[in-house]
Amino acid sequence: MDEKYVNDKEFYSIVEDLLNNDTVQEMKKYRHHFETSCYDHCLCVSYYAYKMAKKWNADYTSAARAGILHDLFLYDWRKPRPDGKGLHAFRHPRVALNNAMKEFPLNKVEQDAILKHMWPLTVVLPKYKVSYIITLADKYATFLDNVHHLKRK
Ligand SMILES: [Fe+2]
Ligand SMILES: [Fe+2]
Repeated sequence: MDEKYVNDKEFYSIVEDLLNNDTVQEMKKYRHHFETSCYDHCLCVSYYAYKMAKKWNADYTSAARAGILHDLFLYDWRKPRPDGKGLHAFRHPRVALNNAMKEFPLNKVEQDAILKHMWPLTVVLPKYKVSYIITLADKYATFLDNVHHLKRK
């Protein structure tokens, strides 16, 4: 885990129980973009969302927790799905939300943020400030993964 996240005691205390959960740990097995695992990507999104939410007076606890869980889909999205249903980009927010709700009690803000994190690709508008923050943090983390990958090439 990235040291800067662990060293931020407030952030860590908000997400510690999620990070120690076996289902969340399973995300380490799946590659997200390039060298980044789903676990590392979610941790990154969570931390950026937490920082943005603090800066913009939003619910930073829900932002941090939704960030950890937003991609809890637990499959290799590059391989065809056995059930052949739906495109990953559109279906994975619902899969992640269902998986997260089996493990943790989630408030309405966290649920909306997970379900709408692909907006504007998925057209239904996010309901809360935190949901918009997660969409931004997710795109920013993905952008950084791309830059990191290009630099290494
Ligand atoms: Fe996602
Ligand atoms: Fe993501």
